[in-house]
Amino acid sequence: MAMRKRAKAKIKAVSKKTVKKVVKLKAARKPVAKAANGNGTPRPSSKPWGQAGLALQGVKILDFTHVQSGPTCTQLLAYMGADVIKVERPGVGDITRTQLRDVKGADSLYFTMLNGSKRSITIDSKHPKGKEILARLIKHCDVLVENFAPGALDRMGLTWDYIHKTNPRMIVASVKGFGPGPYEDCKVYENIAQCAGGSASTTGFRDGPPLVTGAQIGDSGTGLHLALGIVTALYQRVRTGRGQKVLAAMQDGVLNLARVKLRDQQRLSHGPLTEYSQYGEGIPFGKATPRAGNDSGGGQPGWILKCKDWETDPDAYIYFITQAPVWGAICDLIGKPEWKTDPDFATPPARLPRLRMIFDTIEEWTKTKTKFEVMEICNGHDIPVGPILSMKEIAEEPSLRTTGTVVEVDHPVRGKYLTVGNPVKLSDSPADVRRSPLLGEHTEEILRKVLGYSEKELAEIKVSGAITAPEKPAKAEAA
Ligand code: COA
Repeated sequence: MAMRKRAKAKIKAVSKKTVKKVVKLKAARKPVAKAANGNGTPRPSSKPWGQAGLALQGVKILDFTHVQSGPTCTQLLAYMGADVIKVERPGVGDITRTQLRDVKGADSLYFTMLNGSKRSITIDSKHPKGKEILARLIKHCDVLVENFAPGALDRMGLTWDYIHKTNPRMIVASVKGFGPGPYEDCKVYENIAQCAGGSASTTGFRDGPPLVTGAQIGDSGTGLHLALGIVTALYQRVRTGRGQKVLAAMQDGVLNLARVKLRDQQRLSHGPLTEYSQYGEGIPFGKATPRAGNDSGGGQPGWILKCKDWETDPDAYIYFITQAPVWGAICDLIGKPEWKTDPDFATPPARLPRLRMIFDTIEEWTKTKTKFEVMEICNGHDIPVGPILSMKEIAEEPSLRTTGTVVEVDHPVRGKYLTVGNPVKLSDSPADVRRSPLLGEHTEEILRKVLGYSEKELAEIKVSGAITAPEKPAKAEAA
């Protein structure tokens, strides 16, 4: 009796399985959704917003990036839902794991804040077995992203021809310092790109040296450009069925962000740049776009002004824009109502030669208030101003936590840390922000579950030296 019951249950389970399989097969044969309007796109999903999967779900990234520019790109793609498999050298990993360390023995914030939501696999890409594993990964993935020094990928044997032959659908995306030309073979770091991309020569004060900015426009900025190139190439692949090379040169990325300064370079040949305070001060312009201190880069003059407690607080400042439509409100606020009708102050062109004096006068008012008071009062009158926020204030700002721009994650070695979440918000794809992986944390998982290696093969790989560090005396910790 018991045997019959067991047999019946088995038959039931098998037929349930078969039905499931048939349903699955039918579903696979069915077009994803009926084409709407005959344009080939699926009908709008009826799922609640945010529950239709992440935007890049299903996209597989072979991540060969290191340091900042490349990792910032792949981290963003991971936040958007891509499965990012970061390949690292066994025993060493991304050099930033040990750079600028604040907690002994833990991956640095430099690394953890640039490699969230990824999986880590260690592979010696120059080892024969390592090359074999990489070939499988190339077949499996949609995009290979790298930011090695020029030629390094080729030296690993991963040439475009080889990759394209192995997987014609693969997109190969690279960050390099420079595009083709005299400097294409050069290694480049952030500040070199800021200098070569035109940013440094136009940043700083006229009487001082060129300045680099704290915002990593060369590294993170280029990573952003590369991410756009990758999703665009993925979109084109839907039509063409083939991958392509995507190149984001850091010099180009910085120049793209500094384009208003190339605009001013061309305007110079038609006369002085009247919105630069240098014009009002009667200082002649040279041949190239000058450094403009804190002048606004647009048509509405602005400057950084002191606020209450500026003597002791290095961030007690506000950016103040004398936007033309609210000039009357500014005059009333600072106690200069007569400036509304005075021909020397009433119009934007009349004010241009007097900007220094105007901002000095406004500063007498801002110095009596905290930057947050100025912000509140001015915004009440539609006057655009912005407090100079310290990183401490940003880290503690509740609204940035609420929006997911600043996220606290938990790491098994270093504990809780803050990271920057996805700065781009998609209404149907919430950001997937998770901690960074430990070195090689997912090696076995990827070999087994993604690449389908058997236990026997896995055991062979483990002793081959392709995924483990060669035995060497321990190296000193990087600075
Ligand atoms: N297995 C075996 N070897 C590996 C490996 C792996 N998993 N991962 C990396 N390597 C090797 C590379 O093959 C290369 O070896 P090779 O030069 O003998 O061919 C070596 O590690 C180092 O790569 P490289 O990119 O030259 O690193 P670097 O530390 O000397 O230079 C940069 C760093 C950033 C200057 C350089 O990579 C670069 O200019 N990149 C492009 C621009 C860029 O992104 N700059 C911004 C960085 S934030």
